[in-house]
Amino acid sequence: MPSPIPVAILGATGSVGQRFISLLDNHPWFKVVALAASDRSVGQKYSQATRWILNEPMPDYAKDMIVVPATVEAAQAKIVFSALHNEIAKDLEPQFARAGMAVCSNASSYRRDEDVPLLLPEINADHIHLVTQQRKNKNYSGCIVTNPNCTSTGLTIALKALDDAFGVKKVFAVSLQALSGAGYPGVASLDIADNVIPNIKGEEEKVEWEPRKMLGKLDNGKIALADIQFSAHTTRVAVTDGHLVCASVELASHAQADVQTAEAILRDFSPVESARELPSSPRPVIQVREEADRPQPRLDRLTGNGMTTVVGRIRRDPILDLKFVVLSHNTIRGAAGGSIYNAELLVSENLL
Ligand SMILES: NC(=O)c1ccc[n+]([C@@H]2O[C@H](COP(=O)([O-])OP(=O)(O)OC[C@H]3O[C@@H](n4cnc5c(N)ncnc54)[C@H](OP(=O)(O)O)[C@@H]3O)[C@@H](O)[C@H]2O)c1
Repeated sequence: MPSPIPVAILGATGSVGQRFISLLDNHPWFKVVALAASDRSVGQKYSQATRWILNEPMPDYAKDMIVVPATVEAAQAKIVFSALHNEIAKDLEPQFARAGMAVCSNASSYRRDEDVPLLLPEINADHIHLVTQQRKNKNYSGCIVTNPNCTSTGLTIALKALDDAFGVKKVFAVSLQALSGAGYPGVASLDIADNVIPNIKGEEEKVEWEPRKMLGKLDNGKIALADIQFSAHTTRVAVTDGHLVCASVELASHAQADVQTAEAILRDFSPVESARELPSSPRPVIQVREEADRPQPRLDRLTGNGMTTVVGRIRRDPILDLKFVVLSHNTIRGAAGGSIYNAELLVSENLL
């Protein structure tokens, strides 16, 4: 890259915003030029406005930056990383897209729009070309590109490998989701200590729908949703980072799907060339653990710098065909790291 591409972070002080700050430190292509948040933070130095919750220290570049409002005038950049809540994102993100900026969003506000890519580049990099249609439909000179809900992320990556090989027909999934997925300060300690909360508002609907768009085929400027039935339970557990999902799947080619073949297919899964060599490309895309008690969030969430999907406990399912456990780091692969990967794909496909 000749000169770094200026980027802004909206919602920079929150749980996902902090991951952006950390992952963009010394990024080879991008330079952070604006940090935006709510009125609570505007006008303060980032280090004063933010209750830093990551293990690694706050990067020096961010400490003295003055937090600006999330407006087109204040957060001028080529790429805008959005870590805003849905209602706010719904209103603000189109303003940036109209002003010529590429919005890489974590919010769910536009994920279901027909002309908005819902991207995991390692499995559906071709869907990025929906932005051409989006620009025509919405008269944007910029665009909006989204990443999925953090629970769908690892599950869908594993399903893609199995779908290509055997055809996936049905999925039954139970999530055990980390606290950082609820933002900061998130769930009250008295609600979650010594406890599991068996409902996360709006989450089951996302896990039952978003994978169908990502596993769908792009044809003639439209995505045909994958013909897969989903049933999901989503729960919150007292883990800081890393969403675990226990999944059972029914496959079209039942007989061929023995455990060893499935393991090999997951382990060898490789993305299309355009998504393989980007700075944030997961290496490997999927790691298969053979131990009987892995993956575990605390031990495995930072595999591949938090970008790798970790699968284990692959075995026959007595009701459906196969069952397994999948782990993905929710604020890295499932949020900020995923958005940065999407932005890198936009750049490499000359779609900025
Ligand atoms: N956490 C995850 O694992 C995860 C994964 C995937 C997707 N997501 C999605 O990512 C988004 C952010 O989630 P989060 O967990 O990071 O939330 P969070 O910790 O609550 O952070 C929210 C951020 O938004 C800012 N903000 C609030 N109101 C604003 C306004 N009116 N204008 C501008 N900025 C405003 C806050 O700034 P102040 O500090 O100034 O209030 C803060 O920086 C949500 O849409 C969420 O669903 C989260």
